[in-house]
Amino acid sequence: MTILVTGGAGFIGSNFVYYELAHYPEDRIVCIDKLTYAGNLANLKEALENDHFRFVRGDITDREAVEKLFGEEKPDIVVNFAAESHVDRSVEDPGLFLRTNILGTQTLMDACRKFGVKRYHQVSTDEVYGDLPLDRPDLFFTETTPIHTSSPYSASKASADLLVLAYARTFKLPVSITRCSNNYGPYHFPEKLIPLMITRALADESLPVYGNGENVRDWLYVEDHCAAIDLVMRKGREGEIYNVGGHNERTNLQVVKTVLKELGKPESLITFVRDRPGHDQRYAIDPTKIHEELGWLPTTDFDTGMHRTVEWYLANQKWWKDILAGEYQNYFQHMYGNR
Ligand code: NAD
Ligand code: DAU
Repeated sequence: MTILVTGGAGFIGSNFVYYELAHYPEDRIVCIDKLTYAGNLANLKEALENDHFRFVRGDITDREAVEKLFGEEKPDIVVNFAAESHVDRSVEDPGLFLRTNILGTQTLMDACRKFGVKRYHQVSTDEVYGDLPLDRPDLFFTETTPIHTSSPYSASKASADLLVLAYARTFKLPVSITRCSNNYGPYHFPEKLIPLMITRALADESLPVYGNGENVRDWLYVEDHCAAIDLVMRKGREGEIYNVGGHNERTNLQVVKTVLKELGKPESLITFVRDRPGHDQRYAIDPTKIHEELGWLPTTDFDTGMHRTVEWYLANQKWWKDILAGEYQNYFQHMYGNR
């Protein structure tokens, strides 16, 4: 079996490449990635030594490059991680998000139609459902919760989901979609909350918490997300959407305090800064469907996952220091300089 993984040099995609190579040593894994600021070949260092892995630098919106790769590899399964993924950046440049996240999805699905695949799997997000109020802990996102997006990022992901379902109905493309909550773990780019806080706390720098820090996210260790995607793309029902999450809700302030505790750093590093525009209040996934149909359950609880994640950042300082030394400095100054 040949599996084409798009965006495999990013955070979740690289974790997924390692998951597949470890669990299906007989399969061939091909990765296409544009290597944007978020893509990093260092994430795939060990995979690149494996004969069953091939990396191709390419843009999923480049029809010619995509078709060439499909022609060469004839993938059985295509799993699409490639995306612009950071909400704050989508506020700065919505157009880039629409191009990659929507038109990239279309280009991949057109190639799937042309060359034939057993499954096209779209890696989507719980952000397509918008947010839940903080004072209704009884409410959760199910697969039938209406789409109700807040940011250009989530609107682009929701648009892509609608296009995937349209291709399934109109062209009978065999598709599936997973909508997961917030991931954390190794190779998480340090613009996102948890790695940003770990890397800044290690340097005794202030920790910028948006608003009052009471927004809630539902955190899942990245390997559990990879296991869910793997199950759905191989065994999930065609045309179906599966929510993925582990009932691990925490306020941002709780998460930041967990990081500080793990590192033995003082809470005085926390600084409240101007809120994100349109900031979603609470995400919370109901994972009943994937559990009942496919038997999926998360295996890593939050404390264990956070401990493992902090250990990884401690053991891989060159990885994130190389990132922080580059273009990232301009990004940080631009986003946080006057906040
Ligand atoms: P990431 O930003 O770490 O990685 C994205 C990868 O896509 C990078 O390697 C980048 O180079 C590549 N890419 C971007 N544009 C491309 C293009 N035009 N052509 C080819 N490659 C391109 O993102 P992530 O956090 O790993 O997220 C992966 C996917 O999972 C995204 O689709 C995201 O919407 C979804 N998701 C993320 C989370 C999360 O918590 N991080 C949760 C649910 C769903
Ligand atoms: O829910 C899934 C989504 O999770 C994915 O679809 C996105 O790709 C992924 O980036 C993530 O989106 P969030 O916006 O929830 O993640 P982020 O790490 O940017 O922020 C998490 C929370 O922390 C959010 O409430 C904003 C807050 N935050 C974030 C940063 C970067 C801060 O308070 N300070 C910060 O500096």
